Amino acid sequence: SSTKILSSKNTDTYSYRGSLVKGDKQTLQQLEGSALGPIIRVKKGDRVRIRFENEIPDKSIIHWHGLHVSHENDGHPEHVIEEGETYFYEFEVMNRAGTYWFHPHPHGHTGEQVYRGLAGLFIVTDEEEKGLNLPTGDYDVPVVIQDRTFDENNQLVYLPNGKMDQMLGFLGNRILINGKIDNTLSLNKDGKYRLRLLNGSNSRAYKLAWGSGEPITVFGVDGGLLGSPKILPYLMLGPAQRVDVWLDLSKKSQNEELKLIHLPIPLDNMMSGGMMGGGMMGGGMMGNQSDNSLPYNSQFDILNINVGASRKNDASLPDRLPTYKTLNPTDVANRTSPRTFNFGMEEMMEWTINGRTYNGMEVADEEIVKLNTTEVWRINNGGNSTTESQNDGGGMMGMRGNGGMMGNGSGMGNMMQMPHPVHIHQLQFNIINRNTDNVDRNLWNAVKDGIVDEGWQDSVYLLPGMYMDLVMRFEDFKGLFLYHCHNLEHEDMGMMRNFKIE
Ligand code: C2O
Ligand code: CU
Ligand code: CU
Repeated sequence: SSTKILSSKNTDTYSYRGSLVKGDKQTLQQLEGSALGPIIRVKKGDRVRIRFENEIPDKSIIHWHGLHVSHENDGHPEHVIEEGETYFYEFEVMNRAGTYWFHPHPHGHTGEQVYRGLAGLFIVTDEEEKGLNLPTGDYDVPVVIQDRTFDENNQLVYLPNGKMDQMLGFLGNRILINGKIDNTLSLNKDGKYRLRLLNGSNSRAYKLAWGSGEPITVFGVDGGLLGSPKILPYLMLGPAQRVDVWLDLSKKSQNEELKLIHLPIPLDNMMSGGMMGGGMMGGGMMGNQSDNSLPYNSQFDILNINVGASRKNDASLPDRLPTYKTLNPTDVANRTSPRTFNFGMEEMMEWTINGRTYNGMEVADEEIVKLNTTEVWRINNGGNSTTESQNDGGGMMGMRGNGGMMGNGSGMGNMMQMPHPVHIHQLQFNIINRNTDNVDRNLWNAVKDGIVDEGWQDSVYLLPGMYMDLVMRFEDFKGLFLYHCHNLEHEDMGMMRNFKIE
């Protein structure tokens, strides 16, 4: 893809020129450059104007993931433009300093367009962050992690297993870093680094750890810095999530090789025939994905770091970062009866939210909220079976049952438990409760020490049997916004809905 940033000051115009090469023209060699869009850097309070010229042979529209913007600037699929057309964005950057990103959002085509490289980072700074002594310049390093599949001829292939890949979500057989095949970064001995990790994969989650076994220090999430750094044995990163990781190379020696690796998670049988058994998708159709050369339950390399010659920078990570306001859930009227959204399977082979799939501008009653209110939303992936009756989303009967998920042995229940990474547009929320009572213990034990629930977030990773309560405030903009599964294949199949602020 070719991109052009005209300038990076206050009122500048960015031109993000997506050129997406379809099918067999996009090879491994072509990706040796970078198959990612630019990094757009702005300050809080900037007014940005962005011109999106669609140069791909498909309809598209760009969404600013995590940003607090109006409906017209949010990249709603109803605003798609055709090849040769232009869409102008103009908005004030209202978010805190943090790592946001952008990617296409045309309904039904998001997965493929992101897969072929149309995504980039949108990095916001602010005065408060500038007052800290965090790493800047070369020591502030983006690390966009994506998995891709290449065939024997080094051709990039999307959904090689067709419908099955769509149902389960695409899993690639190698890891790209910052849109490149070569996943090695050369950093300076004695450097102190801020690594901005984005999981830009279509559906894969990662359990990240240092190969040396050292703990991993996290000091920021989707919506900016945490109140204090957290030291974890490993770190879970679901699709669309971002984290800031601290890396101090002063105790490393020159030429030392450092690795960021994925540690095993027992998720594979959920992604293969075992899970989807029965007549529906059994046999050959479901068999293949488990042959993936990067199974969840294996260890593989994500990133290699070469420690080069010594070059010190003046940066430090304080024990306490600036305090920030969060929403106070005790003030919230619906705290004890949250607005509930069930992510699951209603019809055979159809991923739904409260039994519905995406339908243009359609909004259901339970998807309408009021401007200037604060609410708790319960995002439920089969973890809570008592709250459905509060919704008028018809046809939930099949989803109730023992053990939290559909139950009653009628088939669908056991077949269709999968993680769903859930994202809400237009706002950042605080996590006030994560319920894991109905999550498989083995699975939960494998991930639980790598989860960060603090801070401001816009994307969460829900294991089967989990539900989460999120507190959020609707302010500044009325209109239609999206919430959806960020497994992009699920999203494209319709696991996406509007909510309306009025
Ligand atoms: Cu990053 Cu609507 O998505
Ligand atoms: Cu978004
Ligand atoms: Cu999903």
